[in-house]
Amino acid sequence: MAAHQGAGGGVNGPQLTAIAAVAENGVIGDGRGLLWHLPEDFRRFKEVTMGGLLIMGRCTWESIGRALPGRLSVVVTTRPLKVDSNDPVIVCHGLDAVMVTLAEHLDRRWWCVGGGEIYRLLWPFTTDLDITAVHQAPESTVTFPPIDPEQWSEVSRKVGDEFDFVSYTRRDDAAQEALRASLKESGV
Ligand SMILES: NC(=O)c1ccc[n+]([C@@H]2O[C@H](COP(=O)([O-])OP(=O)(O)OC[C@H]3O[C@@H](n4cnc5c(N)ncnc54)[C@H](OP(=O)(O)O)[C@@H]3O)[C@@H](O)[C@H]2O)c1
Repeated sequence: MAAHQGAGGGVNGPQLTAIAAVAENGVIGDGRGLLWHLPEDFRRFKEVTMGGLLIMGRCTWESIGRALPGRLSVVVTTRPLKVDSNDPVIVCHGLDAVMVTLAEHLDRRWWCVGGGEIYRLLWPFTTDLDITAVHQAPESTVTFPPIDPEQWSEVSRKVGDEFDFVSYTRRDDAAQEALRASLKESGV
């Protein structure tokens, strides 16, 4: 990605985008994997995140099962996690470590790729949303945080048969300020 875009890809400051496929009832998976198979969505995920830094929880890391090529995976866990030293993977044992890692990778675009726990952990710092709104409502307790229209402004929507691609941006700059402050605190 172009280095001039700056921290996380933002032109006017740091940008952290949560990317998720979300059912009508907010469900994103069953804790072990996804509840649908949408090849077009996979292709788009690969395309838009290529070159970026992907923050994910340990459960999502295990459900993917490998380092995603062409991207830097940042896995959040409280456990000692063994990863292949040749793989582009950084293990972070908490939010502070994630912020340090972001500060060390200002040239990449930053993505929060889930799952439910990690979307919530990074929600106060999330400036943008890239949502595949899936036209299904499967039962599960693993969900995306509610997208409150008072806080999020819809920027674009591409309507499809099985799903829509929808992007949102925060109406205020609180998340960007929180991100900026946290990066400064990380002292890198
Ligand atoms: N539809 C989508 O777009 C999408 C995207 C991603 C994932 N998913 C789905 O979401 C499900 C997984 O989500 P999930 O909520 O169960 O798990 P998750 O968010 O992927 O991972 C949770 C784990 O993250 C670690 N963690 C969380 N907060 C932490 C903190 N403050 N410090 C250190 N570690 C922390 C813990 O790992 P330890 O237990 O190791 O400490 C925790 O068990 C799967 O079904 C997956 O397929 C769907």
